Amino acid sequence: MDNFTYFNPTKVHFGKGQIATLKEEISPNSRVLLTYGGGSIKTNGVYEQVLDALKECAVFEFGGIEPNPHYETLIKAVAVAKQEQIDVILAVGGGSVIDGSKFIAAAACYEGDSWDIITIGGGCVQRALPLGCVLTLPATGSEMNRNSVVTRAATQDKLSFGSDLVRPVFSILDPQTTYTLPARQIANGAVDSFVHIMEQYMTYPVNAKVSDRFAEGLLLTLLEDGPAALATPDDYDVRANLMWTATMALNGTLKNGVPTDWSTHAIGHELTALYGLDHAQTLAIVMPALWRYKKEQKKGKLLQYAHRVLNITEGTEEQQIELAIQKTEDFFSQMGNPTRLSDYNLTEKDIPAVQEKLTEHGLLAIGEHKDITPHDAAEILRLAL
Ligand code: NZQ
Ligand code: ZN
Repeated sequence: MDNFTYFNPTKVHFGKGQIATLKEEISPNSRVLLTYGGGSIKTNGVYEQVLDALKECAVFEFGGIEPNPHYETLIKAVAVAKQEQIDVILAVGGGSVIDGSKFIAAAACYEGDSWDIITIGGGCVQRALPLGCVLTLPATGSEMNRNSVVTRAATQDKLSFGSDLVRPVFSILDPQTTYTLPARQIANGAVDSFVHIMEQYMTYPVNAKVSDRFAEGLLLTLLEDGPAALATPDDYDVRANLMWTATMALNGTLKNGVPTDWSTHAIGHELTALYGLDHAQTLAIVMPALWRYKKEQKKGKLLQYAHRVLNITEGTEEQQIELAIQKTEDFFSQMGNPTRLSDYNLTEKDIPAVQEKLTEHGLLAIGEHKDITPHDAAEILRLAL
């Protein structure tokens, strides 16, 4: 088991009716910037609950943060935060609204060109406004982590930064807010969480039993409750288990003591920035192909996954690994995210641009062994044609 440092100060209020706890988290008379997306919160009662809880605060609104939040949009919110002398940002929505709000929180206190925060990274963030969240889409774990992914639309750059200063101070997770999610977003959330777990699990064994068994328990929950959420959309317990799984998948717990990969995400981000695929669609394409490409190096963990999660016991090791990959592809397809580039009308001619973008972004050696080059990434995508 490897060394680690674990830090996660985000307070979580989980369950029915918890939006009312905003009253305890945000002091009366605070100047609050309420950030949200394209308007889903105004049609499902979340907006009313939030305003009700913030009656004694001065609330300023910034809506219109799009999926894969655009830098071009976020800098407008930064101007509002500065002009209105905002005390606290409250992000209400999915990962895009929360990620965007992390950037706003940091950029509102940054003296130089705010794009530095993305290109230099979180190390240049010295201060940030406090951030609270009301999560409405279980997927990214952003509600309980230090990461933010921002897209500069003009240059098709989708890049991330991380800083402890933008970790949410608190996050409210009421599974009832997820009832209005379209099936596509339920599916995206389950696949994204699944891949977050795998980026921290599917590497090589280091005898870190706690992280491994946490990961396996969460994977089993997704395999059960992902399809269940599509089949029985009004089942509270299914929604609750999915929501907490998505948070646990990327709140730092699973990486304790283990190597991590993250190459599926790196390649996937380029596919989204170049061709507009949903984040989870890109992951469903890349991960199975990457496992096939790296199956010798990932052999120990692929077999562990096959045995402990998928209960595969028959056949040679080679056959067990291939079956485990196929069953994973079946799960993604069952969730509505097929696993081939051709399923999204992409072909061989779309691959070189991904290789070029990875090179441009300095992602020259990724994966747990730092041996996946942009050329390898192109070969991986060719396995997913
Ligand atoms: O904008 P609104 O109108 O709210 O609609 C959203 C959006 O269209 C809708 N939605 C959210 N909650 C809803 C709802 N619709 C109905 N009812 C609800 N309760 O869902 C759509 C997608 O929302 P979005 O926030 O974009 O989805 P998600 O949570 O999957 O976030 C994706 C973004 O997070 C980044 C991704 O790259 C992408 O930019 N990630 C962030 C990570 C992190 N911070 O740690 C890690 C992830 O790997 C990921 O990269
Ligand atoms: Zn992800």
